[in-house]
Amino acid sequence: MLVQKSPERTNTAASYSPSSSTKRQAIPPRSPGLKNCLPYSILLAACLLSAGLATAAEPGHPYAAISDAAGNLHVPANYRNTYQFLGSWAVAADKDQGAKQLHVVYASPNTGKSYKKLGHFPDGTVLVKEVFDTSTAGMTTGTVSHATTLKGWFVMVKDSKHAYPQSKLWGDGWGWSWFDANQPNVTTTKDHNECLGCHQPARSSDLVYVQGYPTLAE
Ligand code: HEC
Repeated sequence: MLVQKSPERTNTAASYSPSSSTKRQAIPPRSPGLKNCLPYSILLAACLLSAGLATAAEPGHPYAAISDAAGNLHVPANYRNTYQFLGSWAVAADKDQGAKQLHVVYASPNTGKSYKKLGHFPDGTVLVKEVFDTSTAGMTTGTVSHATTLKGWFVMVKDSKHAYPQSKLWGDGWGWSWFDANQPNVTTTKDHNECLGCHQPARSSDLVYVQGYPTLAE
């Protein structure tokens, strides 16, 4: 395994407020709605009241733990402690020996278990890919690259229902965003098509490069 200890960071995930928001959020139950009430005019007022109350209790959007109401994602807080490690990639240096980048991929809790059971990623699955610069040197194991500076994160959120049709960051079954290391809450991605071209080769596995993730196959 090439990836060694992550460097200490001052401006990244560790520094913004940890919360329970990394837990996957179930899609909330629907409110009773009016259609059950209409035949019974005497109950209408009560039904209106209960429908209104139930609506007010809903978070208002399905993936509240990872997205705001408009579909803007953020890097999930505390994912290194609460997510599962999926796998890592070493991008070979163009000329020299070793890797010029290391990618480390995490998934929201229970992703491995669900994927093995269902054969696909359930809605709400969050994938986080860290991108690191590297340093390469001779060590007692050979020529070794290790992670240095974190450049940022790629985040994908599974969404087969197309929950945010008005947002260009969501499409083809996922929400998509890149975050620079100093801005884990504000994406620089404008449109998921920036991502899609490169993920087409993985279309048959739901646009995810599953061959790099032994956790999904165990
Ligand atoms: C230059 C091509 C390219 C672009 C652009 C790209 N990706 Fe990827 N992505 C890949 C490849 C190839 C992998 C797996 C190998 C690797 O990491 O080097 C990957 C892996 C990932 C992973 C880990 C899960 C997986 O699919 O294996 C996430 C998450 C991810 N990309 C998100 C994104 C998002 C979000 C965007 C757009 C903001 C994006 N990517 C743009 C090529 C790309």
